[in-house]
Formats: sequence, structure tokens, C-alpha cells
Amino acid sequence: MVIGPGSNPGARRWSERLREWAIPEEILAQAPEPPWGFPTAVFRASARRPDPDSPSLRVEREVLAGGGDVLDVGCGGGAAGLALVPPATQVIGFDPSPDLLAAFEADASEAGVAHSSVAGTWPDDAAEAPSVDLVVCHHVVYNVPSIEPFVVALDDHARRRVVVELTARHPLSATAPLWRRFWGIERPDGPTAEDFLAVLQGLGLGVRWDRRRRPFVRDRSDPVHIAMVRRQLCLPAERDDEVARALADLDDESNEVVTIWWDPTRA
Ligand SMILES: C[S@@+](CC[C@H](N)C(=O)[O-])C[C@H]1O[C@@H](n2cnc3c(N)ncnc32)[C@H](O)[C@@H]1O
Repeated sequence: MVIGPGSNPGARRWSERLREWAIPEEILAQAPEPPWGFPTAVFRASARRPDPDSPSLRVEREVLAGGGDVLDVGCGGGAAGLALVPPATQVIGFDPSPDLLAAFEADASEAGVAHSSVAGTWPDDAAEAPSVDLVVCHHVVYNVPSIEPFVVALDDHARRRVVVELTARHPLSATAPLWRRFWGIERPDGPTAEDFLAVLQGLGLGVRWDRRRRPFVRDRSDPVHIAMVRRQLCLPAERDDEVARALADLDDESNEVVTIWWDPTRA
């Protein structure tokens, strides 16, 4: 698929809305540790139980009857790809984080899954990844301001289907009350899964989607989760107890999960 630069107003909106999440300089300057990042303990595949009723699993398995290989883009610890074996016969994990790729490799070996991994950033290093039957990309796109080339490279690598899973609202929107409480600032309310759909439709992809209500998946009292949220809030470790209390006070952290898929058509 070939796209022109800035051809899609939806893509401009996506990138502008993501930019609004930038943390104000004066707060960032006080952060003792980098606020962004994906702790291995949180994203380890062996620590995550796949949701058997997930629409993503259903539409992914549909095209793997009889087997097939899977490329998991932004695999983290590999929860999305490894949940597909069987029927998938091979999983290729793609991620920039060496620690997460090592966790993916360890869990894949432990489960006896044929696998390989590629260290890189999508789409810059997409040429390092093979074309496969199914490309999956779960909970990554809110990290990607330049969304069109990212999507096009997903499409280019799939023979049968691309499946993207994302939360209906930005995954950090649940912590807006904490930003108000600790720093007195408001956080943005976008982009959303609808904005992502607009990007895909602007590219002319024949997408389908499904959504499912899911309770907030993390145990709010888990020290690993508390430390991750505290780092995201640019606070020092001494404030973990306060963050734990603030997390316990949150009313509703639920977020819908949206599955979007399309079957590439090659000209
Ligand atoms: C929230 S985690 C999700 C991990 C996994 N897909 C899952 O559902 O458990 C986001 C992952 O995307 C990766 N990531 C972020 N931007 C990326 C990019 N441009 N290319 C490839 N991976 C990326 C991160 O390193 C991280 O492992």
C-alpha cells in the first residue's frame, strides 16, 4: 500500500491528540525516574490469563485454522501471540525492549512454542520482520504518533489478516483523577478508538470491529502496579503509599477493549 504524506486528516488529529499527553516540563523536571516504560513484570505473558471470550482471540483463530505463523508487533512479553498457540504454529515477537523480548523468549521456550524475535521499532525496522499469515498488535497504537506508516507496515506484512486491539479510551485516562490530586492538572480525553478507526477508514481499509466491556485488569494493590503508576505520575518512591491510597479511591477504572481487524487485499 502506498500513501502520501499527511494524506489523512484523521491521522493528523490522532497525532495532535497524542501530543496533548506530553507531561508539562516543570513536572517532568521533578521526576526521579523516567515516567514512560513497560515493566517486564507487568507485561509478562505467563503473568497474564487470556480472556477466553475475547473477540480478538476469536477473529485471530478464525484465520489460523490448520495452522499459520503470527507476527506480534509490540509484543511486550508476548501475551497476544502466545495465546494463539495452537492453532498458530510459530510466533515472531517484535519489540524495541530487550528485557521484554527476553521474557517473551523465555515464556515461549517454556511453553514449547516455535518462535523467534526481532528487536526494533515499528515501522522503522519493519523490513527486519517476515511476512506472515496473521499480524497482531495489541495495546501499542496509543504509543504511536505517526500512525499511518505504522498501519501500512502492519498491512504489508499480513497475508491473511491484521488484528489490532486497543482500549476504547487512552490507557492513561483512568489516572486523570490522580493527576488532579497530585499535581492539580487536567489530562486530555483523547484520542479514542473511534479516532483510530477514522485513520484506518481514511486509508481505505475494509475494517470490522467489536468491543467488549472489561473490568480494569490490574490488581490496584499490587506493589508493581503502584510503582508503575507512581513513576507515570513523576513522583518519588517515598510516595508509593499515597499513590496506593489514591488508586484505591478511584471509582471506575473500567475501560472497553476494542478489536479491529481487516483482511489485506493486494492490488
Ligand atoms: C502496553 S505494552 C503491550 C504489550 C503486549 N502487546 C500486550 O498486549 O501485553 C506496549 C508494547 O509496545 C511496544 N512498543 C511501543 N511502541 C512501539 C513501536 N513503535 N514499535 C514496536 N513496539 C512498540 C512497547 O515496547 C511495549 O512492549
